[in-house]
Amino acid sequence: MEKSFVFGTATAAYQVEGAAHEGGRTPCIWDTFAKQPGAVKDGEDGAVACDHYHRYKEDIALMKELGTDSYRFSIAWPRIFPAKDHYNPEGMRFYKNVLAELKKQGIKAAVTLYHWDLPQWAEELGGWQNRACADWFVTFAAKCFEELDADVDMWITHNEPWCASFLSYFIGEHAPGHRNLAEALVAAHHILLSHGMAVRVYRAMHGAHPIGITDNLSPVYAKTVGIADSLARVMQDGYQNRWFLDPVFKKRYPADMLTLFAARTATDYAFVHEGDLEIIGEPIDFLGINFYSRNYVRYDPAALLLTGAAPSDKKQTDMGWDVCPETLADLLRQVRGYTALPVYITENGSAWKDTLEDGAVHDVERVDYLLRHLRAVEQCNAEGLDIAGYYCWSFMDNFEWAHGYSKRFGIVYLDYATQARIPKDSFYAYRDYIRAYKAAH
Ligand code: NOJ
Repeated sequence: MEKSFVFGTATAAYQVEGAAHEGGRTPCIWDTFAKQPGAVKDGEDGAVACDHYHRYKEDIALMKELGTDSYRFSIAWPRIFPAKDHYNPEGMRFYKNVLAELKKQGIKAAVTLYHWDLPQWAEELGGWQNRACADWFVTFAAKCFEELDADVDMWITHNEPWCASFLSYFIGEHAPGHRNLAEALVAAHHILLSHGMAVRVYRAMHGAHPIGITDNLSPVYAKTVGIADSLARVMQDGYQNRWFLDPVFKKRYPADMLTLFAARTATDYAFVHEGDLEIIGEPIDFLGINFYSRNYVRYDPAALLLTGAAPSDKKQTDMGWDVCPETLADLLRQVRGYTALPVYITENGSAWKDTLEDGAVHDVERVDYLLRHLRAVEQCNAEGLDIAGYYCWSFMDNFEWAHGYSKRFGIVYLDYATQARIPKDSFYAYRDYIRAYKAAH
């Protein structure tokens, strides 16, 4: 790995900030969704979360102690535009303060514009089903570029568009919780369109930093080499990986998936307008990848997309995700078939059942997961796959969406009753790894 390799940690606004009713912020779709019975475990929400809104200085001081080069966080759209066309400078002030504190501590900023907290006002106007949502997003993005570009080191337009579309509109696990494949296709398209439009606006404004997008990608493996399981593999890869990579890097949707989706939804793709793919394919500067696990599938005739999870004998995290760092190289090889641009692992991490004992958290499994993935990154780079940076998810335990606070991904433990931050053993393992790396390069 290079001397310039970037080590970081990541969070997202709704998951850590809290202060839901402060600074002029209005509700987002997760505030609303969390109120629906059964949507989030134990009816929890992000109203207080880690109270990062008030404790960001303490958090950034811990990042300094950790020795990371960069902090990836997101901007809450409803803080910046609490109502349509209504700019809220007080909301922007919070991010200016965070950026100033990072600068003071010598930590770079990787900023995500959309990490799923769509303003409720936008949802009420149709949300991502409405093509105009791409325009509203661009208005928000342009304001952030204008106000913050001087202090931001890299911009990520969207985080995991698959989750914001398929998981939210087809599987129904995320806000707004719909179960309609046709809607997922529309949402995915408008999100991708808004990405390309934001990149164009950034270029027109002569933005000074790299801009890209973050996808949640998984290398997909079939349970058997049989024709049915192989088909499931192609479908899974198509709907999770290629549906997002092809438009951005090849300016087209994958033909096999266009056919499958049309058969399953009777869509005529009227929502794809002439010229859209040109916009979506607007050149970017890097690709962000959130990598957690492989995807292990088998043919499922009852599933709308013919693919279902296959039983696995791998060790699994508290999320039930296979631990398989060795598969990162396969994913990177697939991505290298699309682009030679810098690739950042913008998230990687694991949830485990942590226990706080005598003021310490001995999270042996997270340490093992972390170090094995850092080694996997090193191996990829030794193979020339060229990963430019690694962000650990997450800096601290936080609101894990539909799982509420029940899943802990942090390298810093959150005692939610007191808001105390307690670095786990994995925090020190990451700190030591970074120190050793820097000493050797
Ligand atoms: C990806 C998402 O970006 C993040 O918000 C989430 O908490 C982690 N994965 C863990 O599931």
